[in-house]
Parts: sequence; C-alpha cells; structure tokens
Amino acid sequence: CGIIGYAGHRPAVPVLVEGLRRLEYRGYDSAGVAFIENREMHILRAEGKLSSLENKIAGSSHHMATTGIGHTRWATHGVPVERNAHPHRDNSGRLALIHNGIIENYQEQKSWLAGLGYTFSSETDTEVLVNLVAEGRKHTQTLMEALSWALARVEGAYAVALLSIDEPNTIYAARQSSPLVFGRGVGENFVASDIPAFLPYTREVVFLEDGEMVKLDPSGWQVFDAKTLAPIEKELNHITWDVQAAQKGGYKHFMLKEIFEQPRVVADCIAGRADAVHGVRLPELDGLAAPKRLHIVACGTSYHAGLWGMGLIESWARIPVRVEIASEFRYRDLILDKDDVVLAISQSGETADTLAGMRRAREMGATVIGLCNVVGSTVSREADHVIYTQAGPEISVASTKAMCSQLTLLLLLALHWGRQKGTLPADAQASAVRGLVGLPSVLEAELPRMREVAQSLSRKYSSARSFMYLGRGVQFPLALEGALKLKEISYIHAEGYASGEMKHGPIALIDPEFPTFALALHDDLFPKVKSNLEEVQARDGRIVAITHPGLELPVDDAWVIPEVWGPLNSFLVLPCLQLFAYEVADYLGKDVDQPRNLAKSVTVE
Ligand code: G6P
Repeated sequence: CGIIGYAGHRPAVPVLVEGLRRLEYRGYDSAGVAFIENREMHILRAEGKLSSLENKIAGSSHHMATTGIGHTRWATHGVPVERNAHPHRDNSGRLALIHNGIIENYQEQKSWLAGLGYTFSSETDTEVLVNLVAEGRKHTQTLMEALSWALARVEGAYAVALLSIDEPNTIYAARQSSPLVFGRGVGENFVASDIPAFLPYTREVVFLEDGEMVKLDPSGWQVFDAKTLAPIEKELNHITWDVQAAQKGGYKHFMLKEIFEQPRVVADCIAGRADAVHGVRLPELDGLAAPKRLHIVACGTSYHAGLWGMGLIESWARIPVRVEIASEFRYRDLILDKDDVVLAISQSGETADTLAGMRRAREMGATVIGLCNVVGSTVSREADHVIYTQAGPEISVASTKAMCSQLTLLLLLALHWGRQKGTLPADAQASAVRGLVGLPSVLEAELPRMREVAQSLSRKYSSARSFMYLGRGVQFPLALEGALKLKEISYIHAEGYASGEMKHGPIALIDPEFPTFALALHDDLFPKVKSNLEEVQARDGRIVAITHPGLELPVDDAWVIPEVWGPLNSFLVLPCLQLFAYEVADYLGKDVDQPRNLAKSVTVE
C-alpha cells in the first residue's frame, strides 16, 4: 500500500492524489483521502484504481484544505470494497487515520473497544486503531500522547498517519516495520511510505526508524520516540534521483521500459566495481572475510537470482551456499553462528519475510549483507553491510531489471570472494570482467531483435493453458524465473523444472496442448538437455527453445541468441524470458504493469 500526508500552503487534495498516483504501484485495489474543511472531517474513498477516486473528487465540491492524508490500498484484511478503504474515521468523526501493514492483535483490541461501546463499520484493523486513538484521548492530555498510547497497545507492522479536527494543520505519523519517510519543503512538509510520492516538491528527506513518530505542520517538524515522546534529532538526506527516471519514457509499459534498461543496468552495476585494470572491487565489503558458509535468503524473483548465484559462488569461491525462501527460513530451527553470513536479496528492501529472516540471522550472531535496490530501505539500514544494485526505481510489479542487477552483483561477489580465498580459476576474473564490460553493447544490439522473436512466438503460443519451462545447471533458476514471469503477468499456468527431473513426474503432462519452453545452450550439459527434449518430442509436445548458433535440436521453434562467455549467457536468456512473458500478456490484453492480486513489495507476512 502507499501512504502520503501533506501539510502546507497548496490545496492538499491534488497534491495527495498526485502523490498517490506515483505510489499506485504499491497497491491499487482502493484509494482515499481525508482533509478538514469548515471544521469537519471529509473523507473520500473509492474502490478500484486511483482514477475512480479522482472521478469522485471531481464530482464533489472544490476543496481548499491545505492539509490532508491519502492512501492506496492492497487488501490484507477485509475485501477490497469502499467501506474497507482508507482513511478510516473514529466513532466521533474527529479523527482520520491511514495505515500500511497489519495489526496482529486487532481482534483482541476490537473486542475490548466493542465492550466499551465502540462500533465498527469495516473489517479492517485500521478502524480498530483509529478508535484506539480516540480511546487514548480519554486517558491522555494531547493528541500526540493519545497516538502513542494507542500504538503501545498494538502488535504488528505498521506505518500510520493521523489527522484530527483538534489540530487541523498537523499530521502525526509513526512507523514500526513498515517504511515511512518525511520530506521537508518550504512552508510545506510531507510524509509518505515512499520518496517518489513527494519528490516533485522536495528532495530533503528524513528516514524514520521503527518506534519513531513525526509531527509535521506547514512550518515545522519534529521526530519523537513514539513511546517516551522524547524528541530525537534526525539527519536530512538529499535525494539526487528524479521522478522522470520513474516514468515510462515512450514505452507502452514500465515493464517493457525496464527490460530495455538492462544494458544500462549492467553498466551502472559494474561502474567503479569492475574493470580490466583493477579487476573487481567491492568496497562495501571492506573488512569482511570471505564467509565459511553462506545463506542466501530472498523471495520471488530475488530468490531465483539467489539460486543462480549459488552455483557461481560455490564454484569460484568454494563457499558452501544454501539458498532459501525467506518465509521458510524465518521459521526454521536454524543452525547459524557468527562465522555464517546471510545474504538478504531484496529489490525493494522492504519485503516482510526477508526482513524477518535477516533479523533472526542477526539475533543468532550471523553477519548480514543486504543486496538491495532501494537506497535507505529497511534492509539497507538493518544489514551489517549493504551492496546497492543501482538499477534505478523499478515500477512494474513484475521484476525484470532488478534481477539483472542482482545477477551482476552475485557474479561480482563470486569473483570477489574467489580472489580473496585464492580459489578463483585462472583467468576467470579476466574473462568475466571482459565479458561484463562488453555485455551492455551486446544486449543493446540484441534487445530489439529479441522483442521481435518474442512477439511472433507470443502469437503462436498464447492460447496455451499451461507451459513447462526446463533448464539445467546455471539455467535452471532461469527456467523458474521464466515460468514465474509468465504466471505473474499473463495468468497462464507455468511450471519451471530441472530438465533432468522431468522424467520423474511432469512428463506425464506432456501432450500437444502443453508446450515446453526449454533453455538449451552451448554448455557441458547440452547433450543431456537435448535428450530430455527428445523425450518431450516423443510425446508430441511442442517445444520452443532458447539456444545457441550451430546446435541441433528436436524443437518446433529454435530461438537462437548469440553466445557469450560462460555464465554471462544467462544475461541474454533472461530478457528473452521476460519479453516472451511480456508479449504474451500484452497480446492477451492483460494489465502488464499491475497484474491482479500482486504487489510490488509485500510488506506484510
Ligand atoms: C513481490 C513482487 C516480486 C518480487 C518479490 C520480492 O512478490 O511481486 O516481483 O520478486 O516481491 O521482492 P523484493 O523487493 O524483496 O525483491
């Protein structure tokens, strides 16, 4: 979900809606705003995309309030209908509150409040919280104390912003395990879950930490400890990137734009970190010895990147690596000690499961390295060491360029540790660096052609109900990723499988209606992959295969891509998979950038 609060001199409603527009990718099943006019709390909410809220605002009177809060929601409690949309008001109608995250003990608090006579018109935990603040008013002197009183009673993860008729030009906001940033303007101040929300107005930001509260009005701001209400001095950070970078730049969808940004992404990732003269340098890891054991923890696409990195780190740095889905890792009876290193991979740096996993690892004494894309994100702030992927903001919900940047950094990490330990095979570093430096121009030249092939294949295969993606060795994680991309945006069922494992089950599914998408590249395992595909063909399965020039394959469609050095071939396979999924989804008329039921960053468990 996305939240924004504004206290300033401009009419607040357009500022809020514009901010929500830039946060819409975080969640979009309903949206709403609250502001005070004529000493009355006004709340406008609508189900569906932000445009439904805009229509509602356009249909109501002209609003001149200069303070307000706004929210876009992605349902966690309660179905996505208007009565569950934020902001929520308390029973007296004097308070309005917006909230990201989940209040875990809300049922208990709800029953307690109900016993005191409070009534509820929604199923949300947010409505419980706003009434808790109202109850807090009875036990405390000030609004700020009431919020603190209420927050002390709830458990869970949240970022909240509160507006009250009693202090119509002030917003109080607080966070616990959910992102919140404050933005300082001139005669106006902002608070939001994400910087782009207010970037057109200010670049001076303060990152709030768990347990902090900020009070803002048009002329001032102060951060407090949410419990003791003791003031806290905070540092202002200057943000250099701009909203333009987060706009479509002529492409039909953000996803397509982001796929085409990958040459740039590789170049930016290696800039200052790898070149022919100096080899590989990762100053972010200065002072850290190569780990004895490495645990990679991540979700979704970032998890697939981790699986890909495992092979390289094991083979070049001889470090045993285990890759785990964060939601599993966090609840396992872990065996970790201070010699273990956990690498948390997260584009957003806010994924709840990944964060929980890294917190457990730290509690157990392990060192945590965060590999993330969003500067100032929670992962980046809580990790012992942070490596930024520098891919720029990724807007499309389905992750593309972020994975490309993660692969680049994983490769650099394998080289870095391999060199540190003296295990790196001779000339691996030279070949890898040379290959990486040349990769952006190869990608740049190939992408338009890849898109054409993807386009024509999408026409041929988009009627399939189900797809099998096969790969082995370093390409296996890419088969998983190819299947995930197709599922996410085209809603066609797809399974990623290790080619050699096919015969142990899924081969039973093969028939002319169930196509296989194979990764059959020029490497040691090619003969094995080829015989796996012969098994598919013998069962009348149709096959599309990404392959290298000069290889003979029993397939219907051979998608030939140029061959580069060793593991770098994955960097050419990845965009093919992304483009195929993109073209199928677009051909089928799906909402590519905002697929149903998905969120860009899953900040709840
Ligand atoms: C969500 C997104 C995925 C992403 C995953 C992990 O499910 O829809 O695209 O891969 O979260 O996100 P992270 O920000 O931790 O990499």
